[in-house]
Amino acid sequence: MTTKISFLLNNNNISYEVQDHWTLLYLLREELNLIGTKEGCGNGECGACTVIVDK
Ligand code: FES
Repeated sequence: MTTKISFLLNNNNISYEVQDHWTLLYLLREELNLIGTKEGCGNGECGACTVIVDK
């Protein structure tokens, strides 16, 4: 199943059809090729996957 999402990313409007099982990390790295965000520990302890969200 997919969901269409829209958001502002680094001052660019993004609209994307995402699979419901994707993580934000997967979307950023694998689909949008923004590889600055990384997976470290994979369980919420190291902060390598942290993304700053502002409204
Ligand atoms: S990879 Fe997310 S907190 Fe470590």
